Amino acid sequence: MTRKTIGLAGTGVIGSGWAVRALARGYGVVAWDPADGAEARLREAIDRAWPSAADLGLFPGADPGRVSWAGSPEEVAASVDWVQESAPEREDLKRSLLRRLDAAAPPRTVIASSSSGLLPTRLAEGCAHPERLLIGHPFNPVYLLPLVEVVAGEATSPDAVAAALEHYDDLVMHLLVVRTEVEGYLSDRLQEALWREALHLVHDRVATTGELDDAVVYGPGLRWAAMGTNLTFHLAGGDGGIRHMLRQFGPALKLPWTHMEAPELSEELIEAMASGCEAQAAGRSIAELEKLRDGCLISVMRALRPSGVGAGRLMAEREARILAAGATAQPWAPGTAPPAPLELYSSVVAPAWVDYNGHMTEAAFLTVFGWASDRLFRYLGIDEGYRAGGHSFYTVETHINHLGEAALGERLRVTTQVLGSDAKRLHIFHSMYRGDSEELLCAAEQMLLHVDTGAGHSAPVLPGPAAAAAAVAAAHAKLPLPTLRGRRMEIPTPAPPVQPAAAP
Ligand SMILES: NC(=O)c1ccc[n+]([C@@H]2O[C@H](COP(=O)([O-])OP(=O)(O)OC[C@H]3O[C@@H](n4cnc5c(N)ncnc54)[C@H](O)[C@@H]3O)[C@@H](O)[C@H]2O)c1
Repeated sequence: MTRKTIGLAGTGVIGSGWAVRALARGYGVVAWDPADGAEARLREAIDRAWPSAADLGLFPGADPGRVSWAGSPEEVAASVDWVQESAPEREDLKRSLLRRLDAAAPPRTVIASSSSGLLPTRLAEGCAHPERLLIGHPFNPVYLLPLVEVVAGEATSPDAVAAALEHYDDLVMHLLVVRTEVEGYLSDRLQEALWREALHLVHDRVATTGELDDAVVYGPGLRWAAMGTNLTFHLAGGDGGIRHMLRQFGPALKLPWTHMEAPELSEELIEAMASGCEAQAAGRSIAELEKLRDGCLISVMRALRPSGVGAGRLMAEREARILAAGATAQPWAPGTAPPAPLELYSSVVAPAWVDYNGHMTEAAFLTVFGWASDRLFRYLGIDEGYRAGGHSFYTVETHINHLGEAALGERLRVTTQVLGSDAKRLHIFHSMYRGDSEELLCAAEQMLLHVDTGAGHSAPVLPGPAAAAAAVAAAHAKLPLPTLRGRRMEIPTPAPPVQPAAAP
């Protein structure tokens, strides 16, 4: 795997979020920020966000400590593969910082600004290499939300845009290319319209900040993670779709319901907004609210995963890429001797796998064995391409034996023994150990049935994986049988008491 180093200029909310996203990807970070105490604050922010990043999924080699602090923006720009500027949203300040970064970076290094709405053409003015400057606008928290808006300026080269798309895709983000260079780009124009309206409603004493948030959270906000405003309104028109919706509600669009210009930010309005939000926070610190927000975001993304909708699609993509990146073994090659047993999967106990006692749940043990089976399939040559062809293994029976507990953050490794295979079946035995030790924590014996997924019934394994499975089964036949194989559960009925023999 290529290990990139990401350069950060500005390490506040957004810069530190980029740091966590890059570190979770297994990359290194070189950072600079002029504020006193900024390095310590960055390291604290990384520690605070790391459990959420781990919950989303860490790539092999991910290490929150892989951060070095630079003495200047020039030092950052000279030594990294990618520069991300996240300084305050002031055009003059950003322009002078970008000029310094541009003067120090090798010409092919792309420099991206996290700006929320400034025009890249204006930001690039005065740079010697404006062709490598563009906007990469993320969303807070950057380590969880996948959206990035890529905006090119007049001088930005197609190569720089292509490099940006490759870079952000590599960070498992959703790439939204803003085709026309406009202030506020796309997402912030939508967010701002809502926010400006909220400011008016608070200013006019129509509603409190809490009431306005309820108006989003209990209704439209729930829909937005899966469908944006447009598709949502297409459904709101019933069978007539958006055409009916526009005809029905079109007249209301003419009514003076909304303002586009924000009200004057008077001290009174700032106070009303702040006291409203503080009342909503109900004594909870920003760190506590961040933790709550992160947990909820991950739950929403997980819930969307099976339908492949929105951020759920990226969640599945991330899992697949982490697996592919962590693959320790190449698929079996004909004529080679498979290791006996196979050791294809290891992992660290993730926050989502533990219960209120801090230990892994039963379901999580099965999850780990599921990933180990996935690795076995890949070793046998059963991957996305094979499944797309309409074939897969389904599990038809599982026996799990629990022997020990596993705590948050502990490393687990799984060995796999193939006990038997025939045209349609694979009989396997997974053993889960604590770290590098031989302490057995859990074992699973499983029967897998090969199916034609389109026809919905069992079918013979295709020739390549069939040969691989036979080779593995032959190599593993020489191993001793696991003592826990073929176990069944039973509380034996006590034997009837022995009657004393009658006296003759
Ligand atoms: N906060 C958000 O929700 C959000 C979302 C997307 C994009 N952005 C954009 O990201 C950028 C950073 O915003 P933020 O929310 O992280 O702000 P922030 O105030 O949290 O952080 C800004 C950081 O820049 C540092 N800084 C000050 N002067 C600097 C200079 N000359 N050079 C380098 N760093 C300097 C500050 O010390 C601070 O650590 C802005 O362009 C903003 O529009 C913010």
